[in-house]
Amino acid sequence: MHDRKVAVVTAGAGAGIGAAIVRQLAEDGMTVVVTDAHERRCIESAQKLSTDFGRPFLGLPLDVTNFDAVGQVFDKVVAEYGRIDVLVNNAGWSKIEPVAEMSQETWLKCIEVDLNGTFYCMRHALPHMKARKSGAIVNISSIAAWEMTAEHGAAYASAKAGVMALTRVAAAENGTDGIRVNAIAPGLIYNDFLRRIYPPEFFEGYVQNRSRVGRVGQPEDVAHLVSFLVGERAGYITGEVYGVSGGVLPHA
Ligand SMILES: NC(=O)c1ccc[n+]([C@@H]2O[C@H](COP(=O)([O-])OP(=O)(O)OC[C@H]3O[C@@H](n4cnc5c(N)ncnc54)[C@H](O)[C@@H]3O)[C@@H](O)[C@H]2O)c1
Repeated sequence: MHDRKVAVVTAGAGAGIGAAIVRQLAEDGMTVVVTDAHERRCIESAQKLSTDFGRPFLGLPLDVTNFDAVGQVFDKVVAEYGRIDVLVNNAGWSKIEPVAEMSQETWLKCIEVDLNGTFYCMRHALPHMKARKSGAIVNISSIAAWEMTAEHGAAYASAKAGVMALTRVAAAENGTDGIRVNAIAPGLIYNDFLRRIYPPEFFEGYVQNRSRVGRVGQPEDVAHLVSFLVGERAGYITGEVYGVSGGVLPHA
């Protein structure tokens, strides 16, 4: 059995939240398995971590929408390390189209990546966690699931609301097996790629008029909360959804 905690992070090789979570959990001393649909970046990311931290990290390409491939990745992780302590479901996809004009393709892809992908990973990770009566899962949702706005599109908002419900039910089912399941709902966590999804107006005045802390979010803002939620100090916390939005949408 591997002597460090083992974390699997989906969509961990981008430039956004996933990569920050990977790095934070590595800094926390965990062995992190970097998974991502982008094969080359996935392998490169694991190699860079190995160099930076001076210990081996595994990169396993994974499109979370492929149910069987998800199962194979978790089997590989268990074969390699004998344990899965942490799962962070970070993979997300979005295209903003009004309900009255939305293509079926947009709706289905969003549900498939954001909601089904999260389920597929939990479905394959939970039996391994239950066998060891230990585990922590964090699902990355969004304040889009709480807001009444046309800004994010209904497919994304619906998928992310589904992630919140999935989180609560899985927490209820698995708590007495030593497994905690929580979700995080980020507000705007800036990266340049978002400019391909949102119109320029979305970003205008965000810092001045919407953020209550005078800045947009950084991937590390989410990664810090993930680090806490998967750790021992969060042992009495499960089934919760925490906002990380700089006060844009506090939720009680
Ligand atoms: N950035 C924000 O403002 C924001 C706000 C709220 C919620 N979120 C959520 O946070 C998560 C991370 O978002 P981010 O913007 O930081 O991006 P990110 O950089 O963490 O994720 C992008 C990565 O996702 C990978 N990816 C895309 N589809 C995939 C799939 N089907 N399977 C596996 N990997 C896939 C890409 O290859 C890329 O590396 C998403 O779930 C997103 O919905 C982001």
